[in-house]
This record gives sequence, C-alpha cells and structure tokens, in this order.
Amino acid sequence: MNIMQLGINRAFALLQAVCLTVLLAWRPGLAQEVDDRVYLPMQTSINALMVALVDHSAHELWRAGSAQTLSALDWRTVEQHAIQLIASGTLISLGGTGVADAGWVAAPAWQEWNQRMTDGALAALAAVRATDQDALNAAGSALVDACQGCHQAFKPELPTEGFVHTPHYEMSAQQDITLRSTIVTLAAEPALRREFERGLTDKARQRGYNVVASYDLVPDVTDVDDPDFVGRLVSNGIGAVLMIRPAAVGPGTTLEAVRNSVSPSTYANMQAFAQRRSRAGRQDLLAVVHLGIYLISVHGAELISSGAVWLDEPNPSRQQGIERLQNLIVANVDAVRPAIREHLGLPPLNR
Ligand code: HEC
Repeated sequence: MNIMQLGINRAFALLQAVCLTVLLAWRPGLAQEVDDRVYLPMQTSINALMVALVDHSAHELWRAGSAQTLSALDWRTVEQHAIQLIASGTLISLGGTGVADAGWVAAPAWQEWNQRMTDGALAALAAVRATDQDALNAAGSALVDACQGCHQAFKPELPTEGFVHTPHYEMSAQQDITLRSTIVTLAAEPALRREFERGLTDKARQRGYNVVASYDLVPDVTDVDDPDFVGRLVSNGIGAVLMIRPAAVGPGTTLEAVRNSVSPSTYANMQAFAQRRSRAGRQDLLAVVHLGIYLISVHGAELISSGAVWLDEPNPSRQQGIERLQNLIVANVDAVRPAIREHLGLPPLNR
C-alpha cells in the first residue's frame, strides 16, 4: 500500500467516524419536539402500562424466543406482541397519570433507555418477518438489557401504584397455570450437574412442573444476584429457579452446614425431624443440600422459599443416593408449592 492510498484510507475512516457520530447524535424520535397538533394526553399511568403492555408483550417475545418450535400461528402471535411493544415505547415516552411519570419522561436517560427497548422490539419484529428464531432470541436479550438498565436508573423499590409483574396477564387465560422454571445445581462438576439436573427435571415434570434443566442455559453460574445470570434466564422465559447447593458432603456432615441459610424455625423443624429419625436407628448424615426457590424477573432474583434436605441412609450406592436426594427435593418443593402459588396470586392446581 503506498502513501497516497494510506492517506485516502485514513480520510475515509475519518469520514466514517464523522458519519457515525452524526448518526448517533441524530436519533429521530429521540429529540422530537412536541408540535401543536391535537393529541390525547395519556389517561393511564406508566406503572399500569409497564404491567399491562410492556411486561406482557415482552414475556411473549421471550417465551417464543426459547420455544421448542413455533407454528405459523405462533409467529403471528409474536408479531402482535412485537408491535405492541414498539408502540408502548412511544406511550411510555409521553408520561402518564402516575405521580412520578412527568419527572421520569423529562429525563434524557429515560428516553435513551426507552429507545433501546423500542429498538429491541423493532429487532424482534424484523426477526418475525424473517421467521428467524435465533434473531428473535438475540432481540430478547437486548430487550432484557434495556428493561434492566432503565429499572436500575428509575424504578422505585415499590411500584408507585402497586402493580407488579405477577401473575402475568396471559396466565389467567390458561387452564392450569404454571410458571416456567429451571433447576440450577451449584458447585457441582459439570457432568454430575448435568446428570443430577436431568434426572430431577424428569421427576419434576412427572409431577406437573413446567421445568427445564439449566446446565445449557447458564453453564457458569456462581451467584443468583448476578444480573447476567438473571438476564439469561429472563430472555429464556424463565420465571422461577430452584437453586440446589450441596452444603456438606461426607463423614462428619451435620445440619449445622445450613444453619445460616434457612430461617430459625425451619432449622428447628429440620433438627427435630432428624432427631426422630436417628432414634429410629439412623445416625450419620452423608450429605446436606440447601434448597432455595427464587422468582426471576427483569428486576432480579427474589428468594421466596429456603430449606434443606439430607441423606442419612447407610451405604447407599451412588445411584441410590442421587435418586433419594432427587425424590426428597421434589417432595420438599411439592410441600411449599401451594404457598408459593398463593404468594404469586395463582389459583390452586386442579389436581
Ligand atoms: C424507560 C424506562 C423503562 C423501561 C425501558 C422499562 N421499564 Fe419497566 N418500569 C419503569 C419504571 C420507572 C417502573 C416503575 C413505575 C412506577 O412505580 O410507577 C417500571 C415498572 C415495571 C413493572 C411493574 C413494577 C414491578 O415491580 O413489577 C414491570 C413488570 C416492568 N416495569 C417491566 C418491564 C419490562 C419487562 C421492560 C422491558 C421489556 C421494562 N419494564 C422496560 C421503567 C422502565
């Protein structure tokens, strides 16, 4: 390459950079002044819109992005929700009847996050038009970033009007409503994690749980509070997580291992139960496993139930030990399931 060409290339690169800056600075829609046309002011609040429109349509996009298959009819439904989300971007840019709405929409950062959400919805619509599920999934991830970013900057701890994201609207149309959930085993080597999650998922499905294993979705999770982890679950349509953590394994194992992980009353119940069993001739614990159930949303992970199971059978084979733990875990989750459904405002199951 000679000097002349180099010069031209440089000039071209500079020109590109200038064009990019101009493009970035000039976002149509971002900086639009209100003209003097007559329009209807918003007659509902941003809180209500978030739940009825934004959250609702985004969940449909996330669910479709991670669905096993999508029929032609499913794609039509996705299109409907992508359009709803695009339009809701404009609506939440206008403000509304909520006490804080006018202040929020006046902030430039608000409109920037809003533009990012709308861009995600536009990308979802483009994916629909191309019948491209991978692109839909990618658009879903971009959406999660926009929701999380804006919430971090603006959303109050408690919603101003008390509207929250569960139960989701579409749930009320279903027969037996189940939250799509996943199982995450922490601190296990990958092969064991896979085997354990797969077996447990099968058992849970037989008991009517809408559950998938997580080893493919989140191979490297270490902490539930990691926004990346939460984002990946949300964009895969996951609303709840069962977290399984081996707290102690091997000789000398005691319930003490989970003392600080569960409530004092749960701990007392566990101890009483273990004592009754040891009087019946079983003493040594082989493993203590901590269980946590979390609700997952764009706002993060919320712990709603915590407990433990333990293995005290003498000399089980490895396979028996795993089976026994899995059965105990399913039984434990079954026991708290009605309370969790009530907490979510979901009706009891018809079975
Ligand atoms: C431009 C900013 C912004 C964007 C983008 C945004 N939100 Fe919100 N969202 C808010 C604010 C602010 C509130 C609280 C409203 C209030 O309390 O009055 C809220 C509230 C909510 C609520 C109800 C409150 C709760 O705690 O459950 C849900 C659900 C929700 N948003 C979901 C979403 C989802 C899903 C997305 C992305 C697809 C999203 N939001 C994108 C600003 C935003």
